Amino acid sequence: MPDQYAVFGNPIAHSQSPQIHTWFAQQTQQQLEYKAILAPVDDFEASATAFFAKSGKGANVTVPFKLDALVFADQLSPRARRAGAVNTLQKGKNGEVYGDNTDGIGLVRDLTNNLGFNLTGKKVLLLGAGGAARGVIEPLLNAGIAQLKIANRTPEKAQQLVQVFHVLETAIPFTAGGWASLEGEQYDLVINATSSSLAGDLPPLPNGLLAQDSLAYDLMYSQQTTPFMLWAQQQCAAKTADGLGMLVEQAAEAFFLWRQVRPETQSVLQRLKQRIQAAN
Ligand code: ATR
Repeated sequence: MPDQYAVFGNPIAHSQSPQIHTWFAQQTQQQLEYKAILAPVDDFEASATAFFAKSGKGANVTVPFKLDALVFADQLSPRARRAGAVNTLQKGKNGEVYGDNTDGIGLVRDLTNNLGFNLTGKKVLLLGAGGAARGVIEPLLNAGIAQLKIANRTPEKAQQLVQVFHVLETAIPFTAGGWASLEGEQYDLVINATSSSLAGDLPPLPNGLLAQDSLAYDLMYSQQTTPFMLWAQQQCAAKTADGLGMLVEQAAEAFFLWRQVRPETQSVLQRLKQRIQAAN
């Protein structure tokens, strides 16, 4: 039987991960099977235990189980511990399960490799201070940026994240604030990591936040342009992107962890865009 992999989520029916990993496996000639598993919202542990007790070799974990996966893992990578979330699980030789987080590196790869956005020396603003924001902070701080600010509806939560990542001792100015603190500020890259788009909502962002060649990036991907991307387009200046490229890149990093083979991602991203368009 081929090695077994899966993505756990709830809901999971529309996950693109099985398709992405199947393309990766074909491209790199790896023998594996990858399926989607709908775990009960209140019992990730039972589903994951059953999967790894049988023939499961590795798994991706998506909403709402990234915290459950952090608790489930026997060992954690330092970046997963600091991110406070696990999106990739791998079974070790002795049956132990190792937890990692490839979301942040996926974002940085999408920005630099797919979107051609050079992060060196850039002023970066991260909107939101929940799990999604926390997952991308460390790779951003390590990507050569000039400064990072986190703004959040509840400013105290943004401040707490600054404290958490102080241990990295980067020399990069790293600050936090509420929406009002953004007045008069301008950034090269603004990343929306709030879940406001889910509710068709948008943080109250001031005009002038984006410069002509700034990039507005929404961690979410959806069939439609998100409210955050629409706002950025109305600012008449910025380039916009959603999180589809990040989805492919975090998957590639997980695939590499499991198989020690790095798949080529740009063609997979193109195929995925075509597939999503055709389904609409
Ligand atoms: P996720 O795992 O998707 O990050 P989360 O941990 O619940 O989800 O965090 C949601 C984030 O989106 C938080 O930063 C939240 O702000 P608060 O910390 O003030 O709750 C933010 N958020 C959610 N709905 C929002 C809205 N309508 N406007 C602005 N920010 C919102």
